[in-house]
Amino acid sequence: MILLDGKATAEAIKNEIALQVEEIVAKGGRRPHLAAVIVGEDGASKTYVASKERACAKVGFDSSVFSLPTETTEEELLDLISRLNGDESIDGFIVQMPLPKGIDEQKVIAAVDPSKDVDGFHPSNVGRLSLGLPTFVSATPYGIMALLEHYNIETRGKHCVVLGRSNIVGRPIALLLSHKGTPGDCTVTICHSRTKDLAEHTRRADIIIAALGVPEFLKGDMVKEGAVVIDVGITRIPADNEKGYRIVGDVAFDEVAPKCSYITPVPGGVGPMTIISLLRNTMRAYLMSR
Ligand code: GUN
Repeated sequence: MILLDGKATAEAIKNEIALQVEEIVAKGGRRPHLAAVIVGEDGASKTYVASKERACAKVGFDSSVFSLPTETTEEELLDLISRLNGDESIDGFIVQMPLPKGIDEQKVIAAVDPSKDVDGFHPSNVGRLSLGLPTFVSATPYGIMALLEHYNIETRGKHCVVLGRSNIVGRPIALLLSHKGTPGDCTVTICHSRTKDLAEHTRRADIIIAALGVPEFLKGDMVKEGAVVIDVGITRIPADNEKGYRIVGDVAFDEVAPKCSYITPVPGGVGPMTIISLLRNTMRAYLMSR
């Protein structure tokens, strides 16, 4: 069993981006600039946005955070998005999800200029992804693809089972893995909360992407020998430590890992790859705007 070390892989990509930024700056260019909008007080969202800011600093990007109170109206948020769309000093921005009740997430996503949509959530970017055209691929699926590529994991002709059909992870990773190319060329099955006999699908899978958000859902007896398992779960479970919680994935790691050829740990697997992929998208937005 080989651990897919997302932390080390992301670190290597981070160093490449940092070098690229230094070259740009040495030639008199300005630094790429990522902005994040966060509405309300969700603890996990605040942690994610803070880690995105730290990652920007590490590669030499400028970053800004726009923190709005929970009571913010949809109109006020759309107003801010319109200003960010028009702000030439900002190359890309994200609106951290989930948004408070009363704000229509789809309306907000559609308001982002697709050329600044580094989350890859805008309908036109999702459409481009489904057609296999160049676009901003949302960060988690992009990170998973980069991890498979980095470890040279054979995907051609393999049966991949994706657990979860979210717009952010399940659907886009299913599309990407079914596309022609490397990684890609998989036969893909999407399983979800209404799937019957789910374990019969996972037991036949060569590659499993677990993105349900249900802690330790995937058990040892649901996985065949030699499978590749990618764990996207990051649920916070109350714990007796300094933080008051620990992070648990969608995979019962201790049972599943001994059967795997490759597996991602949680934390240190998909998480760091997600953040680095957002930085890659920001660099793409910066270069495209030039
Ligand atoms: N909430 C959970 N994941 C994400 C993400 O990748 N982007 C945004 N904007 N919100 C999220």
